[in-house]
Amino acid sequence: MRRKLAAGNWKMNGTQAALAELATLAARPAAGCDVLICPPATLLSRAADAAGTAIALGGQDCHAATSGAHTGDISAAMLADAGASHVITGHSERRSDHGESDAMVKAKSEAAMAAGLTVVLCLGEDLDQREAGTTLAVIGAQLAGSLPAGATGDTLVVAYEPVWAIGTGLTPTLDQIAEVHAFLRAELTGHLGAPAADIRLLYGGSVKPSNAAEIFAVDDVDGALVGGASLKAADFGAIIDALDAA
Ligand code: PGA
Repeated sequence: MRRKLAAGNWKMNGTQAALAELATLAARPAAGCDVLICPPATLLSRAADAAGTAIALGGQDCHAATSGAHTGDISAAMLADAGASHVITGHSERRSDHGESDAMVKAKSEAAMAAGLTVVLCLGEDLDQREAGTTLAVIGAQLAGSLPAGATGDTLVVAYEPVWAIGTGLTPTLDQIAEVHAFLRAELTGHLGAPAADIRLLYGGSVKPSNAAEIFAVDDVDGALVGGASLKAADFGAIIDALDAA
């Protein structure tokens, strides 16, 4: 049985004033699902104090190397040292802003696993690819190119995030989400065998309190990766409640 996961990605948002939102979330009654917040790296240590044990913390990216001359970068071990148990890899904003290839995402993901972090690996098609009918081919290639070796349900979460749905208010139809998640489950099984059954599949892209319940009812959706609606405890709390009820 896969435990459901509500994951928030604050992106480049939040100074220490935002920790009040985290404290509000932490004060909610215990959720039946796992809750993860990925704040900016600058807030991780202080977030660990605010989050207590109810909320897991993650980084939003890591370097593939363990240490060295990489100005401005952060290693997976540094994230773990600051209180993170997870890290997002392959987010489309990293792929587009920083030219990250599938091979780089795979190397980062393997470095994260080696440092004891659980990887939240993001995949998704852009609008041109969706309209050209190549969504599954694109996602299959991204998965094949970026899947960390030896991944299990304890070390890997996969997030399907259509690029055109991120921050736009647009979402795929429920049938489109179901199609991609079933495809991802089958592809993961092809790559990893039986352990694939334990890997959680999140949907991400304009998840909000008003659409969360219907998305969580889709087969093989084990939770969500939430950007904008994770910044406010009231909104993210409502999404957690919808996941608990699913
Ligand atoms: P959004 O972002 O919820 O603001 O669309 C999702 C994400 O990028 O993870």
